[in-house]
Amino acid sequence: MPAYVVRAGYVPTRFLQVPTGFRILDLLFANFQPNDQIGVNLFVKNISQLVTIASRGKRMKAGREMRDVGALRDAGVLCEKGKISWVGPMSEWSQELPPDVPELDASGRVVLPGFVDSHTHTMFAGTRVDEFSLRVQGATYEQIAAQGGGILKTVKHVRAATKRDLKRSTAKYLVEMMKLGTTSVEIKSGYGLDVDSEIRMLEAIKELRDEEMITVVPTFMGAHAIPPEYTQNRRAYVDLVIDKMMTYVGKKKLASFCDVFCEKGYFDLAEAEQILCGGQKHGMAPKIHADELSPLGGAQLAAKVGAVSADHLEHVTDEGIAALREAEVVGTLLPGVSFFLHHGYAPARKMIDSGVAVALATDFNPGSCMSYSMPLMMTIACTQMQMTPEEALTAATLNGAAALNISSTVGSIEVGKRADLIVANVPDYRFLAYHFGTNHICMTIKNGTILEL
Ligand code: NIG
Ligand code: FE
Repeated sequence: MPAYVVRAGYVPTRFLQVPTGFRILDLLFANFQPNDQIGVNLFVKNISQLVTIASRGKRMKAGREMRDVGALRDAGVLCEKGKISWVGPMSEWSQELPPDVPELDASGRVVLPGFVDSHTHTMFAGTRVDEFSLRVQGATYEQIAAQGGGILKTVKHVRAATKRDLKRSTAKYLVEMMKLGTTSVEIKSGYGLDVDSEIRMLEAIKELRDEEMITVVPTFMGAHAIPPEYTQNRRAYVDLVIDKMMTYVGKKKLASFCDVFCEKGYFDLAEAEQILCGGQKHGMAPKIHADELSPLGGAQLAAKVGAVSADHLEHVTDEGIAALREAEVVGTLLPGVSFFLHHGYAPARKMIDSGVAVALATDFNPGSCMSYSMPLMMTIACTQMQMTPEEALTAATLNGAAALNISSTVGSIEVGKRADLIVANVPDYRFLAYHFGTNHICMTIKNGTILEL
């Protein structure tokens, strides 16, 4: 077993109660700073199949380029101080390995970049299992929301939760994600919808980001729904989001992105534009929940405001697709939502064939997708959206990283990037999507550190 193995079953923080048997070894934790330059050394050798998703300096892959996964047979990856310093076929490896570099023999295994789950609502409280029962009997997501369920039900639970509660439940989900190969994740606020609760969520996300071993990208989503106390005065809520919430979030640098649910009954195009422009003024790059339940024009708005990604897009129009392509906005598709809500899939094939850079993410949340499995999203993308396994892999790694503005450091296995790798016990990378419903990931490596999860 290589020298640097971290038990991460969770959670090694000053703030959380750690369940028995779930501790990071103190010595190793001292070496482990995921959001820093520091990491460890590791030589992964004899990899049967290495999927690099190499983009050679490009931020993302669009259209046909998504099929090029840069696969190599019998390959190796050298990680030094948490970064990749050599990638190639073993036949070209001629260097002397320094004595302090542990070796990992990956023969019979596939190695690929850690998944980047670029759209999640992983921080929440309570469940919505009762709505699940109603939905399978025919109620729609919109009907349930109109009766006070939906997002507002989770808001009630989150408002009653402490920061510690939120961190603890989220940390558990993060471990499960890492077991499934996710090494970078975006987490949105948006279940607080008042100043204190939104800030509490973002502070909890920040603390997880600072302490855990998965890259966490925070997004402010005060504009997720109109809270009940503002239903008669929605303008006042939009003002609260822009004036009070964003000023604080921006000043304290609590979020990299600002997101808005642009949809009938939530925020209209004009409100969404104001919110996203407000976010930009406070240092948050725009993202948008667009054209999910109806073709409102969210994709065009994303292009207009220079959003990094437009997400959902189940009802995107041809004009919307063209706008995304022209403005180089990542189209983030969330197949788990269509599967779980049974409401139709985004036109992935059309988008890719039109030259859009498509990303895949889980949208993990208690209402519209209670799954954080990126391999499952790839399976659904292939079987229901006609994406090829290669496109699905690019979408789940490099393009997800581009949707978070972090593709210069993660998302592919290339010299200079972080050593975020997953080792899968499959004969060929396509099995990740093909053989579904089981976890093929046998090792998750973050910054060169093998996590024992
Ligand atoms: O991305 N569409 C809006 N927000 C989430 C759903 C959140 C919820 O239902 O709790 C989504 O699907
Ligand atoms: Fe979402």
